Amino acid sequence: MKTKLTAIIVGAGHRAFVYGEYALQHPDELEIVGVADPSPGRRARTMRWFNLKPAQSYESAAALAALPKCADFIINGTMDQHHVPTSLPLLAAGYDILLEKPFATSEDELWQLVHAARQYGRKISICHVLRYTPFYAAIRREVMAGTIGEIINVQAVEHVSYHHMAVGFVRGKWSRRDWCHSTMLMAKCCHDLDLIAWMKSGVAPVRVSSVGGNFQFRPDKAPPDAGTRCLVDCPIEADCLYSARKHYLDHLDRWKYYVWEGLEHVENPTMEDMNASLKGDNPYGRCVWKCDNDVVDHQSVAIEFADGCTATLNMIGGSSRPTRLLHLIGTKGEIQGCFEDSHFVIRHIDPRPGHEYTERTVDLNVQGDMTGAQDGHGGGDGRVTKDFLHVLRGEVPSISSTGLEDSVSGHLMGFGADRARETGTVVPIKLER
Ligand SMILES: NC(=O)c1ccc[n+]([C@@H]2O[C@H](COP(=O)([O-])OP(=O)(O)OC[C@H]3O[C@@H](n4cnc5c(N)ncnc54)[C@H](O)[C@@H]3O)[C@@H](O)[C@H]2O)c1
Repeated sequence: MKTKLTAIIVGAGHRAFVYGEYALQHPDELEIVGVADPSPGRRARTMRWFNLKPAQSYESAAALAALPKCADFIINGTMDQHHVPTSLPLLAAGYDILLEKPFATSEDELWQLVHAARQYGRKISICHVLRYTPFYAAIRREVMAGTIGEIINVQAVEHVSYHHMAVGFVRGKWSRRDWCHSTMLMAKCCHDLDLIAWMKSGVAPVRVSSVGGNFQFRPDKAPPDAGTRCLVDCPIEADCLYSARKHYLDHLDRWKYYVWEGLEHVENPTMEDMNASLKGDNPYGRCVWKCDNDVVDHQSVAIEFADGCTATLNMIGGSSRPTRLLHLIGTKGEIQGCFEDSHFVIRHIDPRPGHEYTERTVDLNVQGDMTGAQDGHGGGDGRVTKDFLHVLRGEVPSISSTGLEDSVSGHLMGFGADRARETGTVVPIKLER
């Protein structure tokens, strides 16, 4: 296999650029040779970034797929509801695909994609960026080395910060199922479910239950006198924790690629432009209690595996600090850590007189953005493209490599959990269809 590969960006949003940027940093390994996106502005921007010619620009995934294959692989950064519909014709056209998560929005879509990838013999990797972080990769290595024996229980927690909750799941793109087709659990925590499945690699999840709902972000929880738009008609804006001014104008870089999407056509938007946008029809200017959101803001999931191991995931939106916690309890010891602290401890039973357990700290010492608010994900984002190049060149990929089939059980746990929550039942998980 040649060492330098070519890729076409399909869905030219900020996530596709996170992965495509590898080509700018390593031009000897990767070249972006096209862009497919219905938005003329996004196509033009991508053409500028990657120095593309008009003939390398396509109006959609389907338009690209209708032509003879003209790159080694696709970086598919479309939104959740477009992942499978855009990938199916591209697989048929012979492309391998680096695909964003969640890779499907339902079990039916999941099996459609899996069967198509098998039928065409194509490779798909899923952008489960957390697997690539030094923190989770080091924990996985300890588990693989048998440091804590067989895992009896996994406890995962994700506290979705108040600003992330508001921008993503109340005011934003993942706030309604009829828009993005994903639940909050799948949009936010398919990573955490994937990590649980990864820690238990080789053991099938067999059943799942779940409870949760929208506790806070609904009209009946609005403070008295709250308006409908923070900067237009709200007399309590100055005292409000969710004021759009405080979230977006006072933190210009945080979530900028969502909040200022409507100003993408303006070269260098000024504060006046942004103020006017939040006062106008920008969805991020709306009162968080008076949006049309229909997803949960907190959800708990319980899973049982074929070997009897149990796992829980607690997702809570609206926390002061973004936090991901992981605690694995094994037959020989335990691992406990906080992703944002970038270190974890390994404990072992110590039955000697005067002792109870030993404890060793593993410090990964990663700094910077851990959440994705400015892209980063604790060092995970940058490693995904590199690893897919290894996969395509037939080299040994990292332990974090997440092929489509590796991602199936985590996604099935999520779809099962949502069905369990909605129906009040315990849902069996079937790993084949
Ligand atoms: N891995 C992670 O940690 C992580 C973090 C954030 C978001 N995501 C996921 O990344 C994905 C992309 O998010 P984003 O905010 O960059 O999206 P975005 O909305 O900014 O970009 C999607 C692009 O796809 C284009 N598009 C729509 N239909 C198309 C078609 N038929 N053919 C080609 N292009 C088409 C749109 O015009 C748009 O430009 C989402 O699925 C999201 O859930 C993943």
